[in-house]
Amino acid sequence: MIFTAIREGRNLLPLIGAMLLAACTGAAQAASYTMYRDPQCGCCETWAEHVREGLSTEVAVQESADMAAVKDGHAVPDDLRSCHTMVVDGYVIEGHVPAADIARLLRERPDGVQGLAVAGMPLGSPGMEMNGQTQPYQVIAFGRAGRTVFSTYN
Ligand code: CU
Ligand code: CU
Repeated sequence: MIFTAIREGRNLLPLIGAMLLAACTGAAQAASYTMYRDPQCGCCETWAEHVREGLSTEVAVQESADMAAVKDGHAVPDDLRSCHTMVVDGYVIEGHVPAADIARLLRERPDGVQGLAVAGMPLGSPGMEMNGQTQPYQVIAFGRAGRTVFSTYN
């Protein structure tokens, strides 16, 4: 009896360990991030690195030679388009959106918002660092609820 209990107790330890590990990694990787990018473009990778570091997450990279089709497929408004398009947790993140804004979107989940976009390629935005040059830019929330300025960077 005692031996059986000890044996079963021992057998449980790895199982409990595995469950704890699953719980921990589950929390850290609650959302899965996939970035679509044109293989010709360099700034996308720099931005993905910013997201990995800022959100302590993995970012899967999917190359696509037809980014316009990817953006059409995710209903990214024409005038808000940039180079890469990320999909996370049902949201679309277009362009060089700072990690802090992505975190806030996933935390607040504002009603009627489909995604965030930084249109174009503003200098000084994450992944667009060039000799300290900066251009003011805005992060725009878009979706069913219309558009709102989510954040402003000067
Ligand atoms: Cu870019
Ligand atoms: Cu790029």
